[in-house]
Amino acid sequence: MKIAVVGTGYVGLVTGTCFAETGNDVTCVDIDKKKVEKLSSGQITIYEPGLEKLFLRNVKEERLRFTTSLYEGVKDAEIVFLALPTPPGEDGSADLKYILGVAKDLGELMTDYKVIVDKSTVPVGTAEKVYTAIAKTYVGDFDVVSNPEFLREGVAVDDFMKPDRVVIGASSERARKVMGELYAPFVRSGNPVIYMDVRSAELTKYAANSFLATKISFMNEVAQLCERLGADVDMVRRGIGSDERIGKRFLFPGIGYGGSCFPKDVQALVKSSNEAGYDFQILNAVMDVNEKQKLHLLPKIKRYFKDNLKGKRFALWGLAFKPNTDDIREAPALYIIDELVKEGALVCAYDPEAMNNVRALVGNKIEYAESQYDCLYGADALIIATEWNEFRTPNFLKIVTALKNKVIFDGRNLFEADAIKELGFYYESVGRAV
Ligand code: UGA
Repeated sequence: MKIAVVGTGYVGLVTGTCFAETGNDVTCVDIDKKKVEKLSSGQITIYEPGLEKLFLRNVKEERLRFTTSLYEGVKDAEIVFLALPTPPGEDGSADLKYILGVAKDLGELMTDYKVIVDKSTVPVGTAEKVYTAIAKTYVGDFDVVSNPEFLREGVAVDDFMKPDRVVIGASSERARKVMGELYAPFVRSGNPVIYMDVRSAELTKYAANSFLATKISFMNEVAQLCERLGADVDMVRRGIGSDERIGKRFLFPGIGYGGSCFPKDVQALVKSSNEAGYDFQILNAVMDVNEKQKLHLLPKIKRYFKDNLKGKRFALWGLAFKPNTDDIREAPALYIIDELVKEGALVCAYDPEAMNNVRALVGNKIEYAESQYDCLYGADALIIATEWNEFRTPNFLKIVTALKNKVIFDGRNLFEADAIKELGFYYESVGRAV
């Protein structure tokens, strides 16, 4: 099939590459000339495990092309995916200016039937707005479909190629058929394509992310309680997770959820909810809990250093909002850095992928180390903010030798508390005894 993907950000690039991989002819459109030049010459612009190999293969096979011209991109396309940014506006609602701008342009250049697909996470009712924007100038037949993505950064290629489900919100049989054909190779394993009306599909995405965020905030509150009642959150997690109704996944407490999706989507759903005259109480609590949780380690650190962090040096392992990504949007590590620096402390950080992004954001406010061990030298304590695999079984001898004090504040519960204490460390984590 001939496909256009408008927007070559994270979602657009993964979507375009994976559709090309199954033999489709894909043209990706972006207004950023430099980005398009880079991509066209075979240089990938995001870090996502497994993506580069597919990207290079499909560029080489000429199934994947890039252009700045919307006309070039969509003129022969049967399906046009909109994977454009929807940044939160000042009031928390998703800003649709990019999507509606492209919809208006599409209306001016469309000459035949196309399925226009909202891939970005957009509030309920957006597909109708896209339809109206196109129909202002284009009078022929077309459909606007909602096909939300459920990709996790770090495993996006796998999530795309083997989705748990594909949600398609469409109002015509013709559009359902086109979308069904496109996704057939991805659901051979038997996972469902769930067809529904457009509004339900739009809401499904927000409900999914908000539910997952709720699970995390719930467990973070359980962890708070564990610390106060002398219980161990790891045990409680296992105890409840083995009930299939609850499920084992997404029950890990930590220093809060971050990234470009959960914070934005929970906020946007609260906003839509308010606009619809409904007070979504749980989600307000989910957001409050997360705000506090990002700084969960701070009082522990302050207590240990008797409220005096001035001149203290901290090694920080992990800057990305989660492992296997260089994404630092809403990363808890950034909040921790801010607080420590405000208190007059020095921070030396290491992250396997995200250092360049942090350097671009905060510059010399902190120091950057070449390796996870380099950043430990002379530090008064080690703080862990992201659960990269390479932090899980470190060389403790190296840690002991480099650190000034044998002190670890672990925001991701990487280590067995007893084992680490036997090594002589003072160890604080989340929801477990000191
Ligand atoms: C999330 C969803 O999982 C995807 O299904 C969705 O498509 C995507 O948002 C999106 O809307 O585009 P992502 O933001 O990549 O994906 O990250 P997750 O792996 O879901 O993690 C989100 C946050 O929750 C991270 O900060 C992570 O550290 C935190 N988390 C996750 C926990 O604190 N505990 C857990 O048990 C799981």
